[in-house]
Amino acid sequence: MKDVYILGIESSCDESSVSIVKNGKEEVKTIVLSQIDIHKVFGGVVPEVASRHHVQNFTIIMEELFLDIDLTIEDISAIAVTYGPGLNGCLLVGIEFAKTLAFIYNKPLVPVNHMAGHIYASNLEHTINYPALSLVISGGHTDLVYIKELLNFKIIGSTLDDAVGECYDKVGKILGLDYPAGPILDKIGKLGIHQYELPFALNDNSYNFSFSGLKSKVVNIVHNANQRGEEIIVNNMAYDFGNIIVKILTTKTIKAIKDYNVKTLILAGGVSANSWIRQAFLDLEESLGIKVIIPQIKYCTDNATMIATVGYDIFMKGKTSDFTLNANPSLSLEDF
Ligand code: KG4
Ligand code: ZN
Repeated sequence: MKDVYILGIESSCDESSVSIVKNGKEEVKTIVLSQIDIHKVFGGVVPEVASRHHVQNFTIIMEELFLDIDLTIEDISAIAVTYGPGLNGCLLVGIEFAKTLAFIYNKPLVPVNHMAGHIYASNLEHTINYPALSLVISGGHTDLVYIKELLNFKIIGSTLDDAVGECYDKVGKILGLDYPAGPILDKIGKLGIHQYELPFALNDNSYNFSFSGLKSKVVNIVHNANQRGEEIIVNNMAYDFGNIIVKILTTKTIKAIKDYNVKTLILAGGVSANSWIRQAFLDLEESLGIKVIIPQIKYCTDNATMIATVGYDIFMKGKTSDFTLNANPSLSLEDF
């Protein structure tokens, strides 16, 4: 059978990325241009600024993509693009770029849900046995997703307020850390010891999460300390914060694994780059007797490899889009 090469395009937030994946499994080449340094000064992603940079970046990274590889755009079987969820203006840049390529080179256009991309980033290196469960943890999402079979998603639990990545970043900001604070808290927490009591909100029988109370608790501790002229030991706060996050995520996920009797657990999304969370979930493999899949760090944060990988499965299922494809900033996995 002829090889299928999918060109993936990702622009949902602050990473401009293009990638070519062969037969859904083999990464040929990926380029990720991060805008983190640009947004750092604002303490978070500024949508308008991000969209403008995507416009500048895509022509450059597309040219670079075909350098030093034995493929031309003619060899590409289909163009897969993220159309949601994400920032509207950012998504539109990637979509228009994909449509232009599809139109000029007469290629099928494959619409990809960004969160499905995060989940199926695991497909590159692993085989997923179904039914599976995915804990999707990113800057915008905290979802427990039951996956009955390939591309069949049911969200069984979600955050009722902040996403876990958002909580990392906001807590980091309160502590005076740079954006994105997740990786920094991950690192400095290792230097801390237990000092602060932090709450596990929504410690109930549901699969839902709540992180805003945890964030508020850190705000209160910091304000009270400031008023008393006391210093916050940031490493200790990062230690206690890291531990409570692990406890919340594992407690809810273990319950879902048992209730739904799944064969595979897939960790997905930018926050799954967190070393504490990775270790805690790997430990579950033995204690619960299930397969735990965690993508390599470079596939955890936003990238087009995951879009091309899942784009292959969508394409093989015969799903393509016409040129009316539009951005859907709040696209759900279940509308997929
Ligand atoms: O999936 P992603 O790249 O973008 C979204 O689609 O949201 O996730 C970004 C989030 C940010 O909140 C960032 O702080 C968090 O992932 N993150 C981490 C780590 N690396 C990235 N959070 C905790 N520990 C990390 N090592
Ligand atoms: Zn993402």
